Parts: sequence; C-alpha cells; structure tokens
Amino acid sequence: MMIATLGFSHWKTTARKARNEIKGLLDENGVWCEVFGRPATFVQDFRVTWSETHIRPIEGGRAIQLVLDQNSGCGFASKRQYLFGRVSMKIKLVPGDSAGTVTAFYMNSDTDTVRDELDFEFLGNRTGQPYTVQTNIFAHGKGDREQRVNLWFDPAADFHTYSIFWNHHHIVFYVDDMPIRVYKNSGRVPYPTSQPMGVYSTLWEADDWATRGGLEKIDWSKAPFYAYYKDFDIEGCTVPGPANCATNPSNWWETTNYQALSAVEARKYRWVRLNHMIYDYCTDKSRYPVAPPECMAGI
Ligand SMILES: *[C@@H]1O[C@H](CO)[C@@H](O)[C@H](O)[C@H]1NC(C)=O
Repeated sequence: MMIATLGFSHWKTTARKARNEIKGLLDENGVWCEVFGRPATFVQDFRVTWSETHIRPIEGGRAIQLVLDQNSGCGFASKRQYLFGRVSMKIKLVPGDSAGTVTAFYMNSDTDTVRDELDFEFLGNRTGQPYTVQTNIFAHGKGDREQRVNLWFDPAADFHTYSIFWNHHHIVFYVDDMPIRVYKNSGRVPYPTSQPMGVYSTLWEADDWATRGGLEKIDWSKAPFYAYYKDFDIEGCTVPGPANCATNPSNWWETTNYQALSAVEARKYRWVRLNHMIYDYCTDKSRYPVAPPECMAGI
C-alpha cells in the first residue's frame, strides 16, 4: 500500500501526554492498564478505507491530502477502536467554492442496529459563504440529533483543531478550544458507555443535501477538491485491551476537571450557541413537538 511506505513522523510531546504514558503503565491496584498515550500517526494508526489513489502524503509525510474528483472521494479509519478518551486532528478544509462537498470526521461503533456514533460534518459552501459544521450523536442506534453552527473563521485558510471528547459524564465537540456541542450523560438519556468506537474520516460529494439543503450544486469545473489533515492525536482506552482501562477513574479524561465544562468553556459555549448556531433539533418543533430529554440538560 502506498501510504504505508511513507514516514508520518510528526511527533509532539506534552507534559500531559508524558504523564499519561506513565499513568498508562499501572493503575492504583498495580494492574497493567493500557492507555493509548502517544500522538497517533497516519501510517501506524490509520488505514485507507476508500480509494487509496485519493489519499496522498504531503509535507514529507507530516500531513495527508484527501482528494475529491468526479471519479471518487476517499476515506480513512483508525486501525483500532477506543472506549472513552479524546480524539483530535488538525484539518484544513476545501477552499473557495466548496459547495456540495462534505468533509467528515467521526467516531463509530460499527455495530449496525445499536450504532453509537459521534459526527462532525463540514458542509462546504459557495466562495465567501460560511462553512457549516453539523454535529450529530447516535446512541444505542438512534441519531436524529443534528445541530449546526456556522464557523466564525475561514476553515480553509488554515489548519484548525477539531476534537471529540468522550468520558462517562459528557461528550464535547470542540473547534479549537471552543466547545460547540455538549451531550450530557444524565442517566435518563441514551449514552454510549459500552461500545468502543473507531475514528473515521471521509471527503465526498453530497450536493443533494449539503449546501442550503441541496439547492447549491457542486461545481465540478473547480475539481479536484482538496482537504488536508495533520497532527492526529488519540488518547483513550484501546479495545481490545485490558478491560479495566475504560472504568479507571485516574484516566485524565475522567478526572474532576473534565467532568463538566469549566467556567471559561461554558462562556465560550454560550457565545457559540448565541452567535453561531443556525439549527438545533432541540428547538425544531416540526420534528420534535416535545423536545427530547437530553435537550433539558443545560450547559
Ligand atoms: C452557506 O451560506 C448560506 C448563506 O450565507 C447560509 O445560509 C448557509 O447556512 C451556509 N451553509 C450551508 C451548508 O449551506
């Protein structure tokens, strides 16, 4: 396979990660507890799932380029699955006239009927019009929880960090350090707690629904379309792996500071909702005359 022969050697070490690697060795009972605690690399940790010819290493293997043309889009996935933790990557989206393109970054349990899935979908737009980020959450097989925010910057001009954070208390979608979505485990709503999920990404054409509900069509004369990825970072419990990892309260993502948004994060989240949210299933009375229970959870 083409990709596998190229080095993807962008390593970064942070104090927290170093700490995790140590925490990953033994838990408080002296039991080996594997925490995935190093930066992920494309070659080691991902595989191409769709169209190898449309995924190219660039910058000496430090980043990858996804290509969408009239022949095909493409996709990749993690080799392993994870139960709780945080996944993030830096993505630079399709620039210019990207209407009709969809770049997705998501986690998925790959279990047909009782699917758990956490989705980021970046919906392209005509030149100069804002990109829309759609998020959705499937828990125990049920989705239909779409929210949409328009981004407050041009996500095609630079790399930005997109993260999915998932612990026993909540799921948070971040754009850089801005929480754009929180889904709380109140105990009264379906919540993914038992199925590990893989990490996936795709670039494809969806001009039947993506841009202004399908009104704006993809302009193939602008093809090929390119999106760029780098700095893959996965910290979580790998499955298969030691069964005690996912319930270990000393995993950093389960500790007190991560059980709810901080005051600063809550303020940022309110700002996003107030100024950039353009759709929320929770307030869509035509779909949900009575808002679903998770909508009552507050920040
Ligand atoms: C595209 O731009 C239009 C006009 O500003 C906006 O209404 C829409 O939300 C944007 N995003 C998509 C995906 O259509």
